[in-house]
Amino acid sequence: VNKGHGVKGLAELGLDTLPHQYIQPLHERFDTTTNEEAPPNDCIPVIDMSNWDDPKVAEAICDAAQKWGFFQIVNHGVPIHVLEDVKDATHQFFKLPAQEKHKYSKERSVTNRVRFGTSFTPEAEKALEWKDFLSLFFSSELIVKKLLEILMKGLNVKEIDESILMGSKRINLNYYPKCPNPELTVGVGRHSDVSTLTILLQDDIGGLYVRNTETMKWVHVPPVTGSLVINVGDALQIMSNGKYKSIEHRVIANGSSNRISVPIFVNPRPSDIIGPLPEVLHGGEKPVYKNVLYSDYVKHFFRKAHDGKATVEFAK
Ligand code: SIN
Ligand code: FE2
Repeated sequence: VNKGHGVKGLAELGLDTLPHQYIQPLHERFDTTTNEEAPPNDCIPVIDMSNWDDPKVAEAICDAAQKWGFFQIVNHGVPIHVLEDVKDATHQFFKLPAQEKHKYSKERSVTNRVRFGTSFTPEAEKALEWKDFLSLFFSSELIVKKLLEILMKGLNVKEIDESILMGSKRINLNYYPKCPNPELTVGVGRHSDVSTLTILLQDDIGGLYVRNTETMKWVHVPPVTGSLVINVGDALQIMSNGKYKSIEHRVIANGSSNRISVPIFVNPRPSDIIGPLPEVLHGGEKPVYKNVLYSDYVKHFFRKAHDGKATVEFAK
């Protein structure tokens, strides 16, 4: 595998078959042609945020976080041209010559605030994922604060140290090149995020699928112009004692187009101890999760390949 060039470098060699390192075992492949379309009432909710203070909006957000762990927001106040600029910048970064991108690789980067990489944990994976990324420290609070306020209210949490919810943030620029054998591999394998919340900007290609935990079916998250996809991460599932769900999701590889996506991971600080919040256990509910040091939790996640929801079991 030509490491420094990433999968984009591989794709640009004009391969007509997928290199064997990327061939996933059968049970991890995903045949979208046999995946039934979800019925119209079984879709990830799209919530109009024009009126943030409307109690109906708060209700829709908390309901979606419980049922789906995923929703999209539109009219959220971030201008569409700003979202377009982020996507343009992502394309520009990945267009850079390989040696420029490689300056930020694990081996060469002078700071862990910027990291260029490929797949997820290449050193621990039996089969690689068809994706390159640039990961950066991120500090804006964007719409995160408001969303978390609403979600905390839904748990009857009146006061909470914000840094335990959003003390550290990273933004990833993801690049999924067009793939010669998309049916044999994955863009990103099944996983749930370790974050409190993730805010994702995707382009108009599509390919992100979310598990409906009632039907166990994979449901597509369709690109919606100007929207941001929000999902609950493991940290919030743990803090809410399982009330808000951190849901398994995956990204397919695409045979006809390159795709980009830009997730912002809003996390507790590494030094925080997270566990079910006292307000949630107030009524005598038993804690489903133990208290864990967040840095230990994250280390556990990054030690292995993507493996569905296995990480959250670590906190039980
Ligand atoms: C991810 O969940 O890791 C990526 C999501 C996406 O690219 O849509
Ligand atoms: Fe994810």
